[in-house]
Amino acid sequence: MSLNWIEAEEFSFDSLLLMDKFMIEVIAKNLQKEESQKHLSIALAYNPSVLWYFINRCPEYKDYFNNLVKDVEEGLTKEEVRKSEAYIIDVMDTMMVYVYPEMMEELDYIKGWDSERILSITDFKDKRVLDLGSGTGRLAFAVAPVAQWVYASEPGELLREYLREKQKRLNVKNMSVLDGTIQTIPFEDDTFDIIMAGHVIGDDYEEEYRELCRVLKSGGYIIDCPGEDERKKEGPSRDMIELGFEYSHYTSKFGGDVYRYWKKVIK
Ligand SMILES: C[S@@+](CC[C@H](N)C(=O)[O-])C[C@H]1O[C@@H](n2cnc3c(N)ncnc32)[C@H](O)[C@@H]1O
Repeated sequence: MSLNWIEAEEFSFDSLLLMDKFMIEVIAKNLQKEESQKHLSIALAYNPSVLWYFINRCPEYKDYFNNLVKDVEEGLTKEEVRKSEAYIIDVMDTMMVYVYPEMMEELDYIKGWDSERILSITDFKDKRVLDLGSGTGRLAFAVAPVAQWVYASEPGELLREYLREKQKRLNVKNMSVLDGTIQTIPFEDDTFDIIMAGHVIGDDYEEEYRELCRVLKSGGYIIDCPGEDERKKEGPSRDMIELGFEYSHYTSKFGGDVYRYWKKVIK
């Protein structure tokens, strides 16, 4: 059994017009391989409205995007352009679904996951909890029935809308949905009993850990609880262990290794 994922062919390149600024920044920073750059140049040169949107949404990358498209060959066929569009959509697959939350919710790493995986890590009863980079609220909705209050922080605008709609639909009263990133968590120092995240920690472990500790109360827990996975791993994350996290491992129903991490932080 393998995880379901997106079919790039089914996505219009216009989907990129739904992206938030932070997603465009990821495209500008991460697509650095020669092959990716080639396809991004073609896709943007032949989709001037997407190029315009990228430049206006992220003016700091104006020169970068303009340089990318300046030498693109004219007269490419529809099929050649579509191949480049599909390539970009495919390499950005994890992020493409951030603008299609209903589709994201159906992915196996979220849908195939069991809420016991978070509830068994610590006691959430009466705790003030932050779910950082909440996505469709996999973790937030799992702990809401026991927690005192859950803050679902999510930088994607369409995901925030989705979280609010889901909250209403499920009649969850003890949840606030808000903007925010792991780099700048929009709360005062010493606010939370528990901070949890899934697939969010890891761009800069030390800097992120410092920011997490800032908003955590002394004696509180930081938890990293990913969804289901099909990938085999060689072991737990060295970075998390160096930061003092404990961990446990299980084999996901899709055959992959899943490591969950937690740390009680005394300040
Ligand atoms: C792979 S999804 C995981 C969603 C959810 N945590 C889960 O595990 O089901 C990553 C989420 O992190 C959010 N995100 C991206 N950059 C972020 C940042 N700098 N800080 C916090 N969240 C971020 C994305 O918008 C997305 O919802």
